[in-house]
Amino acid sequence: MNVTIKTPEEQAQMRTAGRLAAEVLDMIGEHVRPGVTTGELDAICHAWITERQQATPAPLNYRGFPKSICTSVNHVVCHGIPGDRKLRDGDIVNIDITVIKDGFHGDTSRMFHVGNTSVQARRVSDIARNALLIGIDKVRPGTRLGDIGHAIQTYVEANRCSVVREYCGHGIGRVFHEDPQVLHYGRPGTGLELVPGMTFTIEPMVNAGKRHVKLLGDGWTVVTKDHSLSAQWEHTLLVTDDGVEVLTLGASGTP
Ligand code: MF3
Ligand code: CO
Ligand code: CO
Repeated sequence: MNVTIKTPEEQAQMRTAGRLAAEVLDMIGEHVRPGVTTGELDAICHAWITERQQATPAPLNYRGFPKSICTSVNHVVCHGIPGDRKLRDGDIVNIDITVIKDGFHGDTSRMFHVGNTSVQARRVSDIARNALLIGIDKVRPGTRLGDIGHAIQTYVEANRCSVVREYCGHGIGRVFHEDPQVLHYGRPGTGLELVPGMTFTIEPMVNAGKRHVKLLGDGWTVVTKDHSLSAQWEHTLLVTDDGVEVLTLGASGTP
């Protein structure tokens, strides 16, 4: 494993990249309405990142991914490819933004609700968000990765939802996905111990039904096998001397 510890200068650059990624999510919210296509959302974000932020959308051409953002609607778990799909009243959509600024990555995603969504849709979205917050609460020097995964898994399963196992959070820095892998399930007291200067994401994918997923023929889109709704929230985090700094806070100031 090759876990990089960021210097204070690198931490400042991560802070900048994280802030820009969050700003894209703040910006796109008002565009997420019935009738807009996910491709249009991609185009708006692409222009904002490249022109306004003078930054690079990390997904574009990443291992062949064809677009600048990921848009994952309803039973899509992650890595949805923006296209002609029009959002409809009642849809939930995860928008996942990763920008590169001066060589450093900031990675964050949120759920957006299109018009009036069902109780079940709001519930799975809230549980995914709470799962992320519970994970963030564990982050401080001395915590082990298994402590984070265990806390998330315990909370999600207590609420009769499930945690996707095939995809995880990740170290992040000059490299989009670097060590360590941050699993959203696990056993307390196991795994890597956190030290100040580490930067990584937590990004639990929570299904309303069973945890199993299927990869579609496009090679990217991941869906729930049972077609149940899925939700995900993500932040990029820095381990500080005495706790955690969320690098991808939006204008609201709350994770
Ligand atoms: N942003 C995603 C993550 O949280 C990764 C997307 S990879 C892509 O790790 F190629 F699909 F964009
Ligand atoms: Co990520
Ligand atoms: Co992401």
